[in-house]
Amino acid sequence: MSKISHLECSRCRATFAADKPQTVCPQCAGSLYVRYVLAPLKGIANREQIAKASSPTGWSGMWRYRCVLPDVEPVTLGEGWTPMLRSRRYPNVFLKEEGANPTGSFKARGLALGVTMARHYGLKKLAVPSAGNAAGALAAYAAAAGLEAHIFMPKDVPFANYVEAILYGAKITLVDGLISDCGRMVAERKEKEGWFDTSTLKEPFRVEGKKTMGYELVEQLGWEYPAAVFYPTGGGVGLIGMWKAFGELEELGWVRPGKRPRMIAVQSAGCAPVVRAFEQGEKTSQMWQNAATFASGLRVPKPYGDYIMLEILRESGGVALSIPDEQILASLKDWAKNEGIFLSPEGAAATAAYDHLLSTGYLKPEDRVVLFNTGAGLKYTDVTAEAAGLHRPA
Ligand SMILES: Cc1ncc(COP(=O)(O)O)c(C=O)c1O
Ligand SMILES: [Zn+2]
Repeated sequence: MSKISHLECSRCRATFAADKPQTVCPQCAGSLYVRYVLAPLKGIANREQIAKASSPTGWSGMWRYRCVLPDVEPVTLGEGWTPMLRSRRYPNVFLKEEGANPTGSFKARGLALGVTMARHYGLKKLAVPSAGNAAGALAAYAAAAGLEAHIFMPKDVPFANYVEAILYGAKITLVDGLISDCGRMVAERKEKEGWFDTSTLKEPFRVEGKKTMGYELVEQLGWEYPAAVFYPTGGGVGLIGMWKAFGELEELGWVRPGKRPRMIAVQSAGCAPVVRAFEQGEKTSQMWQNAATFASGLRVPKPYGDYIMLEILRESGGVALSIPDEQILASLKDWAKNEGIFLSPEGAAATAAYDHLLSTGYLKPEDRVVLFNTGAGLKYTDVTAEAAGLHRPA
């Protein structure tokens, strides 16, 4: 088991103890990274213990990597170790099927760990602004842990996100606005209400849960890096988490030496603050006005961790690109019909981005790539049907 050594600010590098709950850096409001004592885990022999150590009693799924996660009893619903599916048409394209997670999205990983640590610290009331899937995931894990979940989300989230959060017993506020408005409401009320703010990148452990995607994709590819990773980007937790995982894998000596993947951040043309900042050479993004896309998870007009994502994209030699909703829908239909996979709109943004980068020659057919389907298409039947103009026959 590794132990947390400290928390480290992603911006000013100040360090803090992890013995009590922390949100952001008290000095500069940067997001905090969790750092571990990794030295005892170095070497391939330790890596080989991972598969052996999985057990059906709570250590399966993403908890196979528990030696690089906090040493506390998990709140688990079986998240992680999702399928890595090879495309039927492109032999070097792998789809990481995150829709197989509990609550049907990759948000399960981050919130399993966020809620695990909240329970460990004795917190009782958690609050989150959400584009939809984080709401369902927080609500489920809070129910499993016996904690209160206070959720603020746009009133036009996919219906599944609303129904699941209600049934899990969360307190829901539907907001006539975007996740940024929801975030403001949490910030205004949290002190008075005694809520712990579990917002994206404002607590350190959601990134730790999401970093398991980086460990998993490398292990599933035989402990090798792919040439590129396509990530549908809203708040960016997964992108940041995977990049952190790659750093840890290298420190541990668990990944075969090679170049890290190019990180490809994919957004919708209806809300692309990271793409605009990337193209303009900026270090942070500007608020995107009138954000609108049926890829609801990508409707994040000003991500808190923009500066970290932009750094990663540049360091990896990657790119940020935006895809119009019509192309997202076309790719969703293409993968349904030709691969038998019902993508989320966010996942279809990644597959459309792959087609685009192949057509421009940025990637070659022989480049091995991982595309993230971050959620199950079945969670989006209402919004996808609307986008596709589908109605139940009268
Ligand atoms: C299905 C889906 N994909 C992608 C995202 C964006 O995730 P992140 O905040 O990690 O960038 C979300 C966020 O809600 C989502 O629900
Ligand atoms: Zn700081």
